[in-house]
Amino acid sequence: ALVTSTEMFRKAYEGGYAIGAFNVNNMEIVQGITEAAAELKSPVILQASAGARKYANSIYLVKLVEAAVELHPEIPIVLHLDHGADFATCKDCIDGGFTSVMIDYSGHSFEENIAETKKVVEYAHAHGVVVEAELGTLAGVEDDVRVEEGMSSYTRPEEVEEFVSRTGCDSLAIAIGTSHGAYKFKPGTKPQLRLDILEEVKKRLPGFPIVLHGASSVPQEYVKIINANGGQLKDAIGVPEDQLREAARSAVCKINIDSDLRLGMTAGIRQHFNEHPDHFDPRQYLGDGRANVKAIVAHKITEVLGSNNRI
Ligand code: G3H
Ligand code: 13P
Ligand code: NA
Ligand code: ZN
Repeated sequence: ALVTSTEMFRKAYEGGYAIGAFNVNNMEIVQGITEAAAELKSPVILQASAGARKYANSIYLVKLVEAAVELHPEIPIVLHLDHGADFATCKDCIDGGFTSVMIDYSGHSFEENIAETKKVVEYAHAHGVVVEAELGTLAGVEDDVRVEEGMSSYTRPEEVEEFVSRTGCDSLAIAIGTSHGAYKFKPGTKPQLRLDILEEVKKRLPGFPIVLHGASSVPQEYVKIINANGGQLKDAIGVPEDQLREAARSAVCKINIDSDLRLGMTAGIRQHFNEHPDHFDPRQYLGDGRANVKAIVAHKITEVLGSNNRI
C-alpha cells in the first residue's frame, strides 16, 4: 500500500534497522527496486528529485509508483520528494499524491531553515503528508549545485532539539561525512563517517528518526564492469557498508541510495552493448540494467539495511 513513513520509521527505530530510499527516474528503476522489495518482504521508499520530476514528468513518476503499489499491495511503499528546494515544490508534490516530502533548506541560515521547514510542515500535516528536513551540509553534487568540500559542514548536535521542536518535522537528515555522487572520498584516504555525531544527535533526540543522504557504497564490481566495457570512472569511492550497517542499527531509519543504482543500470547496459553489438531492442539492454538494479537493492535490503521480512 502507498503509506507515509511514520509506522515504517517507528518499527525501524525499535528494530535497529533502516529503510532504503531509492531514487527513481524511469519504469525500469521502479520495477527493479519494487520487485526486490516484494520478494524480500521489505518496506521501501521511492524518491523523486527535482531532476527526476523534470526528466520523466512528475505525473509519470506518480503513476509508475501507483502501478508498483497495485502490483505489490502487501509491501508498504512511500512516495517521497527528494531535496525539495522550497515550499512551492513541496506543495506541488503534496497536492500531486506524494506521501512524504523533504524540504532542504540546509544551505540557508538556521532561522530561514526553520521558517521554511515550518511552513512546509503545516501544509503537509494538514494533508496527511510527512516531512523530512536537513541540518548541516553534505559535500558533493546536489542537483546542479556543487558543494565544495570546504563548504560542507557536519551537523551541530547542539542545534537539533531546537530545530525539531520549532519546525515539527518528522525526520531529520544530518551530515556526518557522507556526500552525493560516486566520488565520496579521496583515493588513498580511509573513508570514515562521524558516527560519534550520530550518537550525540540520538542522545538529544531519543526515538527520533534520522536520515542519511549520500549513502551509496559505489560497489567496485560494477565500477569494474563499466570500465571493462568502455567506461571511464576513475577513483569512484563510496561509503563502506559496515559503517552504514552500524548507522542502521542506531537512530538512522532512512538510507538514501541513488548512485549505486545508476552504476548498476550503466554496467548492465554497457556490458550488453559490448557483448551484443548487433542488438538494438531497448528491452534487451534496459532489461539487463533493470536486473542489476534489482540485484543491488536485494543486496542492500539483506546485507546493509536489514529491512527484509519486516512487513
Ligand atoms: O541528491 C541527489 C540524488 O542523487 C538525485 O540526483 O538531482 O541528479 O536526480 P539528481
Ligand atoms: P548517493 O549519491 O550516495 O546515492 O546519494 C543519494 C541521495 O542522497 C539522494 O538524496
Ligand atoms: Na535504525
Ligand atoms: Zn540526498
